[in-house]
Amino acid sequence: MSERMWELIQSPRVAPSILSADFAKLGAQVSEVMDAGARVIHFDVMDGHFVPPITIGPLVLGGIADQVHDAGGAVDVHLMIAAPERQIEEFAEAGADSITFHEEATPHAHRTLHAIRELGCLAGVAINPGTPPDAVAELRGLADVVLCMSVNPGWGGQSFIETSPAKVERLVPLVGEAKIEVDGGVDATTAGSLAAAGASLFVAGSAIFGAPDPAQAYADIAAAAGAV
Ligand code: DX5
Ligand code: ZN
Repeated sequence: MSERMWELIQSPRVAPSILSADFAKLGAQVSEVMDAGARVIHFDVMDGHFVPPITIGPLVLGGIADQVHDAGGAVDVHLMIAAPERQIEEFAEAGADSITFHEEATPHAHRTLHAIRELGCLAGVAINPGTPPDAVAELRGLADVVLCMSVNPGWGGQSFIETSPAKVERLVPLVGEAKIEVDGGVDATTAGSLAAAGASLFVAGSAIFGAPDPAQAYADIAAAAGAV
């Protein structure tokens, strides 16, 4: 599971977030972006506690994981939930290739990163806009992915926080071999500055699924990000 994802993210990638997809035809929406070249599908989990909304969980993940894997892709699970250490096993069993939790959501980030790797997934840690880059410095070597939120977590379609590229630049010397992921307000106009700052995994929700032609929107963002 994790090997496939690690190999995929050696190249810069745009990861469509299905949060903005039409859930009545989720399989078709996933096919549309994968046919356009996407190989990493971003899966947003919200619990009504860490962030106000409630979204989707392991049951829906299990519903798309085989489709994504059969098409040569991987599912990037983003947990915006309190006490994520209690839920990681269920997401790993449902087909997650990477599991990213929020540093702010648990006092046990170090142990949780270990536990995610033990379950056979890539391990990721996310930080909110108000959390300094230093918060992940002690996790170097344990995280495969460091996710820098470029909006406050909880909703798709928010405005990009303009200081995000500068924050990515400050993260680069702190993360070692980990890839830097960005999430929130990523589109063809913001992706370039994030790529120049050192990000290589670009989550985009509304800019893809809210566009009249999601395949074209994917291609435009990938071109702007220098992604494959
Ligand atoms: C927000 C989620 C994002 C969301 C991004 O809390 O983590 O993944 O889908 O949406 P856009 O790309 O519309 O900002
Ligand atoms: Zn996300």
